[in-house]
Amino acid sequence: MNAPLQHTVSPVVRRHLDFKLDQIPRFWFNNDPFRSRMFDALSLTFPEGERYFIKSVRLFRAKINDPALQQRVTDFIQQEAQHGIAHEQMNQQMKLQGMPVDQFIQRLSQVFKHDLTYRSPQFNIAMTAAAEHLTALMAETFYSKKATLATAHPYVRALFAWHAIEEMEHRDVAFDVMQQVAHVPENLRKFSLILISLLMFNFTLYRTQVMLKQDGFTLIQRIKMTAHGLPWFIGKKGILSSMRTAYMDWFKTDFHPNQHAVLEQYQVWVDTLAATGDPIAAGDALWQAASD
Ligand SMILES: [Fe+2]
Ligand SMILES: [Fe+2]
Repeated sequence: MNAPLQHTVSPVVRRHLDFKLDQIPRFWFNNDPFRSRMFDALSLTFPEGERYFIKSVRLFRAKINDPALQQRVTDFIQQEAQHGIAHEQMNQQMKLQGMPVDQFIQRLSQVFKHDLTYRSPQFNIAMTAAAEHLTALMAETFYSKKATLATAHPYVRALFAWHAIEEMEHRDVAFDVMQQVAHVPENLRKFSLILISLLMFNFTLYRTQVMLKQDGFTLIQRIKMTAHGLPWFIGKKGILSSMRTAYMDWFKTDFHPNQHAVLEQYQVWVDTLAATGDPIAAGDALWQAASD
């Protein structure tokens, strides 16, 4: 039996938001190289990753008969395209810092091209829906507690806030395409989250190491930084560890993303953007409104 679906917010496509990303310092998170580069390593995959999500959903577009789902797919595509544009600006900053962003992206692009060419459409939509589960959970974990991003630079925090809001808004779109149109087998759906989690985590860690090396840190320094910095992410009280229960919900047979509550202060961000037109003020308000 499906549990009642109740936590929904509708996607709104927002364009031309300026986060002044050309003004952020190299180690923008707590002046901490490891933490900053971990987030950078994640962020730099978004433009290519989001293009892959769009292509995966498009594989089923012609088969969608429900006009409401068609509209949500359109909004999903436009939101993800905008995220790509914004994170591209962040990539530009990393390039100016001498980071091998193009190499990372080339490799990613090869992997996605391979998957779209040689794997089934079902595989690709399952990977996309699973990735969307992760991004929605990250949105929740980054912004539910004020302490988490307290020492992050406000401009980057605002970029991630906007992204988090829209990931909340469209978190069920790829999932509904997967369930209602692609009819992905349960085993593939469940397996895809394990696979995407391993890939994302391992590659993020790998890219972080490459970037820190490029920043001039020695192997010994990097080992120390990683040993010291990783528990903040995956230690007992790590920010990613706090996602455990919600993450595991994916493996329930009747799981649907809307069973999870929407970020509590969602409306604060929407209202602040409407009042100020300033995405940095909206990001700040979202962070300020988080619980202590
Ligand atoms: Fe996105
Ligand atoms: Fe998304």
